[in-house]
Amino acid sequence: MTDTARDLRSHFGLTTIPFTREIAVEDRWPAPLFDEPLAALRATLEQRMSALLVAPSGTGKTVLLRTLRSCLPEARYRVNYVKLTPLSKRDLCREIGLACGLDINGAYPVLMRKLQDAFCSQADDDGLRPVLMIDESQELRPDVLATLRLLTNFDMDSRLVLSLVLAGDSRLRSLLDRADLEPVRRRMAHFASLRLLSRGETVEYMQHRLRVAGASQFPFDSQAIDAVYEITRGNLRATDHLARKSLELAAQKGAPAIDASLVASARQYLLL
Ligand SMILES: Nc1ncnc2c1ncn2[C@@H]1O[C@H](COP(=O)(O)OP(=O)(O)O)[C@@H](O)[C@H]1O
Ligand SMILES: [Mg+2]
Repeated sequence: MTDTARDLRSHFGLTTIPFTREIAVEDRWPAPLFDEPLAALRATLEQRMSALLVAPSGTGKTVLLRTLRSCLPEARYRVNYVKLTPLSKRDLCREIGLACGLDINGAYPVLMRKLQDAFCSQADDDGLRPVLMIDESQELRPDVLATLRLLTNFDMDSRLVLSLVLAGDSRLRSLLDRADLEPVRRRMAHFASLRLLSRGETVEYMQHRLRVAGASQFPFDSQAIDAVYEITRGNLRATDHLARKSLELAAQKGAPAIDASLVASARQYLLL
């Protein structure tokens, strides 16, 4: 642990560092705003169909995918998660293969066939429903995204074997609007989204993150919260960065509470 992190913990009497990226599913903030998209995505997978999750960066997509995964009983689902960077078709197949724990050699057509066989046998032999979550899907090249159709397409469409969940920012939406991607778009049976937090939700979120980090008091005063909200506009990731930096500065200065001027100082160290 760094000195800054140690100081922050001891100054505020915390058991862990709040506002970090690695939030355990059981510690997540279970806000109503996530309930509807979560339930709808789950229902789509239960019907063996595929879905989209499109929302701006920092609004909780990856955490929602992890939560969705934790809601699906292991006895019934085999969930494979891949996070993407721009890839060729072959690389995409390899990434998916790796996520599924498969032998992944060969040229693209061979790999595609291996993946199709693997998903079919998961469904046939183990009775498991294969789910493939692709995070940061906006990074997919259009020709590569088009090939995903081949994974959901078995026996001339007579079987629904694999469910896809594609998550990404608004570029994913634009990508799917392309005429050549219509076959993929048509396979998406649900379109989920996430929104920015209101001021009230921002406070609740900050309180929750501090509480699960062991805080017995909430150190931000009302003007500090206004300042946080004005800067972050309800974006969770931006709120994380600003709240954490404000706590660090308060610890450095030995300040017991965080006011608006401390938040303004914290902002100068961040690109928000
Ligand atoms: N339900 C949640 N509970 C607690 N923290 C969350 C939750 N959703 C998002 N976060 C926080 O917000 C940050 C950004 O969320 P993330 O899922 O990575 O957004 P996206 O994938 O849309 O860019 C996470 O690192 C986490 O700190
Ligand atoms: Mg993400």
